[in-house]
Amino acid sequence: MNADHPSAEGKIPESPQSYWIESAPPSSFPPLNENIDVDYAIVGAGITGITLAYLLAEKGHRVALFEANQIIHGTTGNTTAKITVQHDLIYDELIKNFGVDQALLYYKANNEAMKFIQRTAADLHIDCEWSEEDAYLYAQTAESASKLELEYKAYEKLGIPGELVQNIPLPIEVCAALRLSGQAQFHPVKFMNGLLAHFVKAGGRVYEHTRIDGKVEQGDRQKIWTMDGKQITCRHVIASSHFPFYDGLGLYFTRLHAERSYIIAMKPIADYPGGMYLSVDEPKRSLRSVTINGEQMVLIGGETHKTGQGEPTYEYYQNLERFGEQTFGIQDIPYRWSAQDLLTLDKVPYIGPITASHPNVWVATGYKKWGMTTGIAAALLLKDQLMGQENPYTELFTPSRFKPDPGIKNLIVENFDVAKQLIGGKLEAVSRKADSLGLDEGSVIQINGKRAGAYRDTEGKLHLVDTTCTHMGCEVKWNNGDRSWDCPCHGSRFNFKGEVLEGPALQPLPTIDYDG
Ligand code: FES
Repeated sequence: MNADHPSAEGKIPESPQSYWIESAPPSSFPPLNENIDVDYAIVGAGITGITLAYLLAEKGHRVALFEANQIIHGTTGNTTAKITVQHDLIYDELIKNFGVDQALLYYKANNEAMKFIQRTAADLHIDCEWSEEDAYLYAQTAESASKLELEYKAYEKLGIPGELVQNIPLPIEVCAALRLSGQAQFHPVKFMNGLLAHFVKAGGRVYEHTRIDGKVEQGDRQKIWTMDGKQITCRHVIASSHFPFYDGLGLYFTRLHAERSYIIAMKPIADYPGGMYLSVDEPKRSLRSVTINGEQMVLIGGETHKTGQGEPTYEYYQNLERFGEQTFGIQDIPYRWSAQDLLTLDKVPYIGPITASHPNVWVATGYKKWGMTTGIAAALLLKDQLMGQENPYTELFTPSRFKPDPGIKNLIVENFDVAKQLIGGKLEAVSRKADSLGLDEGSVIQINGKRAGAYRDTEGKLHLVDTTCTHMGCEVKWNNGDRSWDCPCHGSRFNFKGEVLEGPALQPLPTIDYDG
């Protein structure tokens, strides 16, 4: 792919494509077409699902891994792939909300995850372009510099070996920065492909395009079903699928929200000095290097917004390009892509039994953009829990925890926002008609006096869907960068034909026939 540079005149970039996926396409696997019996059924084939599958199969267990779409094509294949314990500003807040001991466990769990990747890549001879880097958080205002100081004090309390510095190697003016050496970056799909190959060699089974419906029948053995009725019987079910495919009255849709963010891979005019960077101030900018076809390029990420609540997507790419141009000068932008992340109420992932009354149904979700370490930490923790082994991180990550601060406040804020989106979407006036849509354009339109979602493809064919989200009835919005219908309430996404790309929705948007 060689997308035009830049998308300057408000042009929508061609369909985004992750460099990671294009440069190391994962293998394909068939859908499940029979009933099966296994020890562990893992639903969701991203970083947690694949790592856990590998760990369990290595111990001789019968494991089946299910993916609703294509493996590794979710957030794992669309990340910036920084491997660090420096998860933005977090440790000061964790100490305030969870206490020093739990904050320290958060650090240790992620540090162990980092070491696991390095050790496993070496042991299994996976060439995943591991490269050790300094990580920097940088502040450009006095206010954010004071936040960095608080974070630095938290590092000191926890024994995290960071340093406050006055400059960073980038051509960016800063007030202060927090440097943490010994962090890393890698090629996430190459690492995942390597683990997956070992999983399959150990007898593991992988099924793509196999969506699991929203039911679990509990018993001595658990039963789940695919959307077309194939039954899977197992000892344990693990949901590693962003929103869990089964809620189990855990009310995950009230405790998680989805955000989208954007990445460009650019060839700079000025040399990139190495290192991984994240701004403390808004708008957030995340940077790292990557070698593409032998040339050093820079990944720039940022422009986060709640799913279904953003501006036209090309504006996000333009903003990243403008920053790249100002900072380094741009020769080319060979790749652009976007990612979706889930965030919990208290910024700590949910990992463990889906509810206290479901001892054999497990969940791992809410990595807040730091899934390269927390996703691995989840797999390591779940492996121990499934084997009945003690693990020091159980309490920290337990999904049934509830921290009044900030839990209650965020619960109210998030669910007020859902109500606002639900009502606002229903009241929105729609005046556009189908014949006003140009090629490769989508919009909510009016057809026969009713609201419909319309996309006219590059051949001129009109695709119409019902815009009422099949999860809980909010009105989906058109995402012109990804050519998808995105729900502003809990982040479900559907392609232009209405097929589910991301849950919690399980059912597609109904299509609408129109011969006008
Ligand atoms: Fe919940 Fe759409 S994702 S209503």
